[in-house]
Amino acid sequence: MSPNSLIFLFLLIHIRNMVSPVWNADVPFRFSALTGSCVVVPCHFQYQGDLYLSRGIWSKKTGGVIYHNGRSNILDHFKDRTKIIGNLNEGNCTLEIDKIKPFDNGPFCFQGQIENVRHKFYNSCVFLTMRASPEKPVMTLGLTEVDAGSTTTASCSVTHTCSTHHPQFSWNVAVLTNKVEHTLTARGIWKTTSTISFTVAVGDGPKNLTCTAKFWGNKQQDSTDNLNVKGYVLINFHLISNAFSSLGSLMYQFRRGLLIAVPVFLIVTVLGVVIYKKR
Ligand SMILES: *[C@@H]1O[C@H](CO)[C@@H](O)[C@H](O)[C@H]1NC(C)=O
Ligand SMILES: *[C@@H]1O[C@H](CO)[C@@H](O)[C@H](O)[C@H]1NC(C)=O
Repeated sequence: MSPNSLIFLFLLIHIRNMVSPVWNADVPFRFSALTGSCVVVPCHFQYQGDLYLSRGIWSKKTGGVIYHNGRSNILDHFKDRTKIIGNLNEGNCTLEIDKIKPFDNGPFCFQGQIENVRHKFYNSCVFLTMRASPEKPVMTLGLTEVDAGSTTTASCSVTHTCSTHHPQFSWNVAVLTNKVEHTLTARGIWKTTSTISFTVAVGDGPKNLTCTAKFWGNKQQDSTDNLNVKGYVLINFHLISNAFSSLGSLMYQFRRGLLIAVPVFLIVTVLGVVIYKKR
């Protein structure tokens, strides 16, 4: 063996001892984010052996740290906007980025440190796809036809990826009860639902019911549906006028009857008198 290849072999063994094995992380490849809001990127990995991460770092694939527990290491553009909210000791490297800017697409990759050695992961990069406006809430009515003055229900739901600050709902009616639920529909994608009960106002005909979802960062989106209200007052009025009109037609028929009956009565009487007198 030449001295060169001996040195090479020595370095190879030494490097293998220094660099810990590469592990697999589990990060979505693409993930949606709403500009101005926050995004919580799910990230998980499994510890192997007795190696523990002393630090978790998120950086751009092209270089530049976006999260580090030493603030001075973070690019100015990302300072005070990023946080690992997962528990690294449990293999949870979930990242929150707040006040998302239109070009914060990444890809961003998770890395660790063991002692002071960088530890890389496979599948640890996420590409953020930006949405400029939130999606429209989906409204569901308990009943589409309701009586004025009755109590009914409606619900509105939206999906989002900012699970640290769920959207808030408001309605254009006085809400009696409001149940808010957050459910995970896919990895990192949440559905927030507001189910309300309210009293239907007096009136008749279509009424607009509107729910507005206000997302973290203040963007909002609303949805409107039509509630067909059956007003008691107007129905009663209708019944009464119906009754009046049937009474009217009864009178009319009665009068028509009289018009026929009277001449017939007269003719019969006259004829009767004539026949009686002739006898
Ligand atoms: C990781 O941490 C986040 C933030 O605390 C949490 O919402 C999520 O459920 C955790 N994931 C797992 C797999 O434990
Ligand atoms: C009800 O909503 C529809 C569609 O959103 C709109 O065109 C209409 O003007 C609204 N009507 C009232 C009374 O607000």
